[in-house]
Amino acid sequence: SYDDITTLREALAIYRRSGKRIGLVPTMGNLHQGHLALVEKARATSDVVVTSIFVNPLQFGPSEDLDNYPRTLEADKAKLQAAGCDIVFTPTPQSMYPHGMGNQTLVKVSEVSEGLCGGSRPGHFDGVSTVVSMLFHIVQPDVACFGEKDYQQLAVIQRMVRDLHLPIEVIGVPTVREPSGLAMSSRNGYLSETERNTAAGLQRTLGEIRDALESGASIEENLSQGIENLRRQGFEPDYLELRAKDLSSVTENTREAVLLVAARLGSTRLIDNLSLTLP
Ligand code: PAJ
Repeated sequence: SYDDITTLREALAIYRRSGKRIGLVPTMGNLHQGHLALVEKARATSDVVVTSIFVNPLQFGPSEDLDNYPRTLEADKAKLQAAGCDIVFTPTPQSMYPHGMGNQTLVKVSEVSEGLCGGSRPGHFDGVSTVVSMLFHIVQPDVACFGEKDYQQLAVIQRMVRDLHLPIEVIGVPTVREPSGLAMSSRNGYLSETERNTAAGLQRTLGEIRDALESGASIEENLSQGIENLRRQGFEPDYLELRAKDLSSVTENTREAVLLVAARLGSTRLIDNLSLTLP
């Protein structure tokens, strides 16, 4: 485990010189099976697996849960070792942001980061693309794994890698779910038992809309009914949208599409998505 950027770089340079493929899994810690699925994917596609644990202040809004974000470093390290991760990188905020939050350089991916979560969390994706870019420069991985659970985040990173010609293969990993269908998330820990039961309705509702849309029902009607349906279950929906797979707007020619939702349950904000094929 390394918390120092220079020491990590030196350790990785030795692997790189001997021709080893380096895989990176960026996380904010409080690891669950979803994170570990990324580690397993990295394990299967590279020789040396690096997992970073860094709660990135730059991607949190002023009223978000930065200070309360769950930090469980010792348990995380044990899980990573069991999952076959070779190196844990735990930089301090001071080392990543020596000038505090006065960073003058930001990486901004425009269109794909607008709307959806970018609409409800201004600046969030600039924080994500900036820190992931830093991690890419520090680790210089051959492969980097991201979860499909954060669908827009994956699209933002894929676009950044393409636009900046980074020699990194970005792999999207399918969402790992609880038996109830609830997508695993560090934020699920904020839910009360009742809220947890309700939360499973998010994926169930997406499934119902998918079934209707795949059999040719009206997109507009099903989305507005979906919003009502979520409200009846106790959610406060932030958005419920259908987009083409690449997050562009749906047109008459769109076949491969994705339903994306963000909704609050009490004070917890949950997101999920479901892919479908339009007729
Ligand atoms: P974090 O929320 O810790 O997630 C780290 C990675 O795990 C992301 O790629 C996310 O999509 C993936 N992940 C989370 N839950 C998952 C699930 N149930 N199934 C599959 N994958 C899942 O996302 C971040 O951290 C940060 O924004 C980060 C990319 C580390 C930049 O700070």
